[in-house]
Amino acid sequence: MTNDLTLNNGLHIPSIGFGVFQSAPEETAAAVETALAAGYRHIDTAAGYGNEREVGDGIRRTGIDRNDIVIETKVWVSDYGYDETRHAFDKSATKLGVEQIDLLILHQPMPQHFDRTIQAYRALERLLADGQVRAIGVSNFLPHHLAALREQTEVVPAINQVELHPYYTQPAVQRANADLGILTQAWSPIGGITFYPGWGEDRRSVLDDETVGRIAAAHGKSPAQVMLRWHLQRGRSVIPKSTNAQRIAQNIDVFDFVLSPDELIAIDALDRGVRGGPDPDEVDPSTWDLIIPEP
Ligand code: A2P
Repeated sequence: MTNDLTLNNGLHIPSIGFGVFQSAPEETAAAVETALAAGYRHIDTAAGYGNEREVGDGIRRTGIDRNDIVIETKVWVSDYGYDETRHAFDKSATKLGVEQIDLLILHQPMPQHFDRTIQAYRALERLLADGQVRAIGVSNFLPHHLAALREQTEVVPAINQVELHPYYTQPAVQRANADLGILTQAWSPIGGITFYPGWGEDRRSVLDDETVGRIAAAHGKSPAQVMLRWHLQRGRSVIPKSTNAQRIAQNIDVFDFVLSPDELIAIDALDRGVRGGPDPDEVDPSTWDLIIPEP
C-alpha cells in the first residue's frame, strides 16, 4: 500500500494529509514545516480555522515545490452564495499565497439555507471549470444532503470529509459516498474529538480503547498508528492533526505493517453510533457569526 489515492476526477492525493484544526496560528507554520519535513505532502486547513496564512508560511519556509503539495481548504458558511463563494476563493488563495487551490470544499451543509449551499457549490464548479481549483468537494454532508446536491448540480464531489474514527464510523454516509464515487475523508481520524477539552463531559478517548491497544501491542505500533492504518486499509483518506514533532512523524509511519481482516473487523465493531461533533442537520445559527476576514 502506498500513500496515494485517486479522486473521481483523476487527481492523485496522498492518503495521509496533515490536519491543522485547532492549531493556534502561532504554532501552525512550525507544525506544517515539521510535517512536510516528515514526508507529508497534503495539508488540510479551512478559512474557518483562522490559520490559512500560517499554513502558506509553513509551506514556503520548507522550499518544497508548491506543485508537490496538495493544499485543501474549506469555504465557511458565512461565505455561501455564488458571488460570496467565488470571493471566498480569492480570500483563501491570497492568505495561502497560492494561485490555485488543489482541493476546495464546503465546510458543512446549511440545511436551513440549502439554496445558498447549492449556490456555493455552483461557484466551486465554476472555479473548477476555470482551473482555479483542481478538485471540489464537501464536508459533513449526510446522505440526504448529497442526494439534494446531486439533483441540483453537475460535478460529483471528489470528497466528503466527515467525522470518522473507531467510535463513530457513519456506515450510511460511507455507503452513500461510495455509491456516488465520492472519497470518504476522515476528520478526527484518531478520535481527537473524543477527548478534546471542552467538547463535553464523560467521554472515553478512543486512544485508550482496549481493542485498539491490544492490536497496537501485537504490531509494536501505537493506538494512533493502528487507527490510521485501519482507515487506509478501508480505503479512506485521513488528516490527523498534531503540533508535536514526534507524533507528527509517528502518524505518517504506518506503511510497514498490515492489519488482518479480523483486526479490521474488530475495529469496525467498536462503533457506538454517537457523534462527537455537531449534527449537520442541527447547525447552530451562531455558526453564521464567524466572518472570514479579508486578507
Ligand atoms: P497533539 O497536537 O498534542 O499531538 P484528531 O486528528 O483525530 O482530531 O486528533 C488530534 C488530537 O490527537 C490532538 O489532541 C493531538 O494532540 C493528538 N494526537 C495526534 N497524534 C497523536 C498520536 N500519535 N498519539 C496520541 N495523540 C495524538
